[in-house]
Amino acid sequence: MSIILGIETSCDETAAAVIIDGQRIASNVVASQIDLHAQYGGVYPEVASRAHVEAIDPVVRQALTDAALSIDRLDAIAVTRGPGLVGSLLVGISYAKGLALMSGKPLLGINHLEGHIYSLWLTQPLQEANFPVVVLIVSGGHTELVLMRGHGVYERLGGTLDDAAGEAFDKVGRVLGLPFPGGPNIQRTAEAGQADAYQFPRAKRDQSFDFSFSGLKTAVLREVTRTSPKGPHGEKGVTLKEGVSVADAAASFQAALVDALVEKTVRAAQTYDANEILLAGGVSANALLRTQIKNTAQLPVRYPPLNLCTDNAAMIAAAAHHRFAAGQRDSIAFDVLPTWPLSRLSHAPLDA
Ligand code: KG4
Ligand code: ZN
Repeated sequence: MSIILGIETSCDETAAAVIIDGQRIASNVVASQIDLHAQYGGVYPEVASRAHVEAIDPVVRQALTDAALSIDRLDAIAVTRGPGLVGSLLVGISYAKGLALMSGKPLLGINHLEGHIYSLWLTQPLQEANFPVVVLIVSGGHTELVLMRGHGVYERLGGTLDDAAGEAFDKVGRVLGLPFPGGPNIQRTAEAGQADAYQFPRAKRDQSFDFSFSGLKTAVLREVTRTSPKGPHGEKGVTLKEGVSVADAAASFQAALVDALVEKTVRAAQTYDANEILLAGGVSANALLRTQIKNTAQLPVRYPPLNLCTDNAAMIAAAAHHRFAAGQRDSIAFDVLPTWPLSRLSHAPLDA
């Protein structure tokens, strides 16, 4: 039995959660900064760090209150160590270290991508994975295709060579004049559009398991926008061409991006004889991705509940459960790892 407090501040959500045995949610608090960053059309790192500083203490207190637990009941404190924005990560890490020092509780530094994977273990009722599984992690910062042979054993099969899938959604959303974040707004807008209105490229049809979305993004830009003449102050503006249907463009873009994700993920699962496909990360909330991969793969496909697709601390505490049970305890002096790859985590299974 383990009771773990998770803390997550790697990007634009300040989050804390208490998780029992890596699977039961005693509390899950997420303070989103979406409104704060919407005016910039993306995450503004300096603004994010400052907002984390303000939110972290009330968010952690709320998580403990919701779980009706005091700190002395915890077995460990887990915090995202990377990858992510360095200034944002440091806020969570410093806070977690302070809490660990004060309470004498063990501290664990957790990889954010491993956290996304373990959001799958928070689905009720719990279903243990039938290893080996192929995992597609698709978020605002990452597009990673991973072969998972056991708890804590990861082999990177491929990933994006340029924009992350969520980043492509966000950039195209901005071009189409939709609010930030682009992903959910493109999905909503696409419902009224024709996915075959534009033939956008299905990017990188090759034998690798890598993705590339910059060509797709450029194709959308070329098809639907024009550069308007110079304004009174010499500024150039990019505006939508007349007659462009935002719904058609959104639906056609979404279809192209989802096709690329599904094709490579399903082929990776076949190539490596996977028993299951797992989806995780913000873009795994996408309804078209979910249905299309289920219809294409001849294997069980699982994804997290909608509220656990985007960043949260429940997934960080869930990942920490397996590491805590396997004996991992990190030094209070550990440093931040802003570009920490999942494949370097461990080579021995965490048999918990
Ligand atoms: O996992 P996450 O919260 O943050 C990172 O770790 O990056 O993912 C956020 C990303 C954003 O790019 C957002 O546009 C995308 O997830 N997203 C979606 C949907 N919901 C969120 N993309 C496509 N369809 C959705 N329904
Ligand atoms: Zn994330």
